[in-house]
Amino acid sequence: MALSISLSVNGQPRDVELDDPRVTLLDLLRERLVLAGTKKGCDRGQCGACTVLVDGRRINSCLVLAASLDGAEVTTIEGLAQGETLHPVQAAFIAHDGFQCGYCTPGQIMSAVGLIAEGHAGDDPERIRELMSGNICRCAAYKGITEAVLEAQQ
Ligand code: FES
Repeated sequence: MALSISLSVNGQPRDVELDDPRVTLLDLLRERLVLAGTKKGCDRGQCGACTVLVDGRRINSCLVLAASLDGAEVTTIEGLAQGETLHPVQAAFIAHDGFQCGYCTPGQIMSAVGLIAEGHAGDDPERIRELMSGNICRCAAYKGITEAVLEAQQ
């Protein structure tokens, strides 16, 4: 039996029928809602490529069942920019070369947005690296990523 949920995605109300209750938020976003900015890396909670915000908190969307999100507010990388104006974290990643291949970048940026919103990132680069340790960058662009977080939170 199909399960119906209603949630907000990037400020838009979405009513979704789930034929399979095992569908993850990641697959719902990418395959049903065609929001492919959120990336699938490991699909098991180890890389952070799939990071989005749910009710303002950063989560690995591959680990969350869509069926559990009735009434939730989801923000993806597509929801950050305002028209042609990038979110300050997006702009800071560009300014500080916080990426190389770019595959992990949406997850890095969403994690940084959530971290800054939590309000305790501080100005210690090592601490920021620790708080962002759930987001792996295979290209090792960590220096630029950390600099971007430092700038964006000011
Ligand atoms: Fe979700 Fe890697 S795809 S943590």
